[in-house]
Amino acid sequence: MERLDKFLCDSGAGTRSQVKVLLKAGRVTVDGKVEKDNGRKIDPETQTIALDGEVLGGKRRIVVMLNKPAGFVTATEDAMDRTVMELLPVSLRAMDVKPVGRLDKATEGLLLFTNDGDLLHRLISPKKEVPKVYYARHEGEAAEADVQAFADGLTLRDGTVCRSAKLEPLGPGESLITVCEGKYHQVRRMMASRNMTVTYLERRQEAGLTLGDLSRGSCRELTEEEIRSIDC
Ligand code: URA
Repeated sequence: MERLDKFLCDSGAGTRSQVKVLLKAGRVTVDGKVEKDNGRKIDPETQTIALDGEVLGGKRRIVVMLNKPAGFVTATEDAMDRTVMELLPVSLRAMDVKPVGRLDKATEGLLLFTNDGDLLHRLISPKKEVPKVYYARHEGEAAEADVQAFADGLTLRDGTVCRSAKLEPLGPGESLITVCEGKYHQVRRMMASRNMTVTYLERRQEAGLTLGDLSRGSCRELTEEEIRSIDC
């Protein structure tokens, strides 16, 4: 927490005395409400401070959830393909958000972005074991032996050892897979190691967050409550 007048000065709004005048004139808002008290304590990480309607600092911590469609690569720029950044409105891109981990070009579903570097690292750190739930359509049928092999920790075809994961068969050629790490093409490679080639993949949950009614290709900012609910 810091004083509002100090924050305004540090953001280039003016000197202490100029800032006092701006506040008195009702030109400063905190979370959309006019604030005239220069000694007011604010948290720039979680609150939006604006002067004449223009957001200051640009440092407000945000987390964005995108329902990624197929055909976009998870990168901030790419010479060949369209990137997931192109699916965010300019106002969110201007907040310096970065994708949290990655989804393959063909994979759809929940992809988070944030400008909070600590949170990003916690979410992708293997130590934190953040659960991610995927829906897969695949060749073949998942059997009890596959469920057990996932639970025991699979060894991929290239010898990579995976942590224990959950495979839940939903019906012929359809399964839910929960993993707590993020190796390259992990779900596709895990399924391939059990002779079930994935033909469609969608991430449905991450860190307890779900897509809800967010339509494919759309994004929304998480609320502070949702951000606090992220357990990692
Ligand atoms: N596992 C994959 O194979 N692909 C993804 O995009 C995500 C997890």
